[in-house]
Order: sequence, then structure tokens, then C-alpha cells
Amino acid sequence: MDLSSHIDSKRDAHLNELLEFLRIPSVSAKTEHKRDIERAARWVADQLRGVGIGKVEIIPTEMHPLVYGESLDAPGKPTILFYGHYDVQPAEPLDLWTSPAFEPTVRDGNLYGRGTADDKGQVHIHLKALESLRQLNGRLPVNVKVLIEGEEEVGSVSLWKFVEQNKKRLEADALVVSDTSMLARGVPSITYALRGLNYYQIEITGPAQDLHSGVFGGAVPNPLTILCGLFAKLHDKKLRVTVPGFYDDVFKLSSAERKALEALPWKETEFRKTVGAPGLCGEEGFSIGERLWCRPTLELNGIWGGYMGEGAKTVIPSKAYAKFSTRLVPKQDTGKIARLVEKHVRKLLPKCVTCKFEVLSTGKPWAASYNHPIFKKAIGALEKDFGKKAVFIREGGSIPFVTQMHDTFKIPCVLIGFGLPDENAHAPDEHLALENYFGGIKAIAHFYQDLAAL
Ligand code: BES
Ligand code: MN
Ligand code: MN
Repeated sequence: MDLSSHIDSKRDAHLNELLEFLRIPSVSAKTEHKRDIERAARWVADQLRGVGIGKVEIIPTEMHPLVYGESLDAPGKPTILFYGHYDVQPAEPLDLWTSPAFEPTVRDGNLYGRGTADDKGQVHIHLKALESLRQLNGRLPVNVKVLIEGEEEVGSVSLWKFVEQNKKRLEADALVVSDTSMLARGVPSITYALRGLNYYQIEITGPAQDLHSGVFGGAVPNPLTILCGLFAKLHDKKLRVTVPGFYDDVFKLSSAERKALEALPWKETEFRKTVGAPGLCGEEGFSIGERLWCRPTLELNGIWGGYMGEGAKTVIPSKAYAKFSTRLVPKQDTGKIARLVEKHVRKLLPKCVTCKFEVLSTGKPWAASYNHPIFKKAIGALEKDFGKKAVFIREGGSIPFVTQMHDTFKIPCVLIGFGLPDENAHAPDEHLALENYFGGIKAIAHFYQDLAAL
């Protein structure tokens, strides 16, 4: 039987297995899911053993375990490091899901559930591709190292240390990742640039305790009001970030690259539909594509404090909090930006409050050339199963590990995404198109097979 028909014959089995994986609520951000995280790590380890990867290890870390496996039985063939994550984002707000987040359900050709697109579904694509090759040929066509982490959605902090201490073990000829999106349905895509991310949390303290807003209001600082004032000043009228020096090191798009990006089959109407807002806005002087892929941003992710319960409570809160982040682009330095942001925030705050400023996680931006021969293999494999030539895209999201691997080993990083931009990653009703899941297994199997002749 050929590879494609073999994979076709297993569709139901593959999907049922993915459902099992998705039912584990491996939310990395919440300590209450510690057990689920461990269960998911074991599930991945068992899968790897099933694939025939001989050496599989669950590696404990300070936070969530890493799963590592290797099969080095293809002497003379290239070694591929496949990376993905088994952790998922929190499912809240729960009431906005059509079917429960951890009860995966098929509707209209899509599989709904937390982690379908980001990233369990995409990890499973690779596991099933490898398994199919193994079943058909009795062995894998290339040497494979697999690293699946459980902290990607909270900044991959433990992974940094692991890479530092295991450089030899992770050596490979290329890194392969499926944790990104396709430009649009039916358009196979390879991502060659990602934005970086600094994530911050601040705590503003005014009065030593909550106060009656009638008895004290008017003569004391209200930290919530001050926090709102702060965020109102972090962008100017042109929606540029006001932090001095923020744009100093931002790379400039070459005219050749601009042309290539403008020629992509990307539709603004589709984008507007996905966003679903009455209108769009963004930094003046840049196209939507540039705003999303080439420009740094500062986003407020959450703000809280004071009374948020039912009815009215007249109170001046003692504290106010915010979580915010900066997306960074090539040439910006994460440490420098963190210092500039903190300095500016402190300068904007009045003396009547104090501020605790924390950087929760940081990840560098990434952009790389795509002329290594491995990209031809990827294009060929994708074309075979998606019937179209792949496009090369930048994306606005962040995968800190990719930059780290690229900087450490200077190896090509091949990011083949099977998500779609409207699949609600990180939001309610996250889903994955089944055509991309099944098509992905075939394309990735062909890709690994073709890599034997790299
Ligand atoms: N898979 C995403 C990153 C992504 C999504 C890249 C879409 C390109 C297109 C990843 O799981 C993610 O969400 N990363 C976080 C960063 C992390 C440090 C918390 C992000 O981008 O917010
Ligand atoms: Mn992801
Ligand atoms: Mn994510």
C-alpha cells in the first residue's frame, strides 16, 4: 500500500486518538491543572513509544515536564528536531463555547476544542505521519528527535535551561515546527518570521487599604483611575507607542520583501470578517500586513482591581493591576525594550502611588532566509497533498524556542502551519479544519520521507 492510502485507511483511528489528547485539559497557566499537565506529558510519551521512537523520556522541570524522544536509526541520513507543545491556553470565558472546550466535537468539517489548532492537533499530525512511515517501512526514513514542551503558552521558561544544558543532545540538521497558521484556506504556507514578545505585569498601590469612596474620594489617589490614565498615554494619536526609543532598532522592510508580501493571496475582506469589529485601526502609515507582521506593538491584555461583583459598591481600591505585552520585531532587543518600557511607565506615574513592575516572560523575534534545500522539500510535499505551491509568510505570533534554536545552532527552521487565521486560537470555539488535519498528516509524512534524500 502506498503512503497516502495507508494514511487514508486510518482516518477514524487517528481522529479518535486526537480526541483523547484534546480531552486532557492541560492548561499550563493554572496550578489546578498540574495533574492534567502531567497526564498530557505521559500521553505524549506513550504516543512516541507507539511511533517506535526508542528512547523516550519525561523530563521534570521547575514547572511543567518536557517530553523528549529520539530515533537515530537512519545512519547517513539527516537528523530532524521536531518541536511542539502539549499545553494549551485557559478555556475561559467558558459560556462562549458552543460545545465545551475539553469535549472535542466535529461540526461542519471542523474539529472544535481547546488545543485543536494550537497545538495538540498539529503535534498529532507529526506523530501520525511518523507512525505511518514506521508502519509501512518498518523504520523511519530520517533520524528524528522530538521535543514536546508543556510551557509554551506561559513563556517556555524551563525550556531555556534545558536547551542550555542539553546542546549536544538537541543537535540537528533542521528544526521542524507546526504551530503556526496558513495564510488562508487552501494556501499551504511556510512561516519565515515571527514577532518576539515581552510580557509585563504591574501593580499600582495607592491607599494602604480600600477606602469608602464618599468619605475619602476627592482627596486620595485612585490607583484604577491612575492606571487607566497611564494606558491612555502609552499610544499617541497615530497609534504609535510613546515609549522613547521603542522604534529605534526596528528593521526596515526591503522593497523586494515588501513586494513579495504584497503579492501574497491575502484578502482584507476575509481579515475584516475574522476580526468582526465595526472597523479596524492601527499605526498610521503602514499597511495591515506590515502592522501585523513587521511592526512592534504594545497591547493591554487585562486590567483589574476594585469591585467587580454584582450591584454597586462605593470603594476606592487600594490596588490596581494590569497585564500588558510588547510584540517585537527583528533588531529590537528584548532586554533593552523591557528597560525602556519600565522607565517610561515609572515616569508617567504620579508620586502619589507606588508601582511594582514585573517582566513575566520574554522571547526574541525571529526572521530567517529560506533558501536552504530543505524548503524545496517542504514545498514539494505540501504541493503533493494540498495541490498548490506553498507561500512564504511572516506572522505576528511568537514561538520563543524557534529563535533560541536558530541562534544556538544556526540551523534552518521550517515552520509549516496547518491552522487557519479564523480558527480562534486562544479564544472560545477554537477549531481545526479536518481537511488540514488529514492533509497535514499526508504532507508531513511525505516531507519526512523526502528528507531522506536531502
Ligand atoms: N502557536 C502560537 C504562536 C503563533 C500563532 C505563531 C499563530 C504564529 C501564528 C503559540 O502557541 C503562542 O500562542 N505563543 C504566544 C507566546 C508565548 C510566549 C506566550 C503568543 O504568541 O502569544
Ligand atoms: Mn502554539
Ligand atoms: Mn498559543
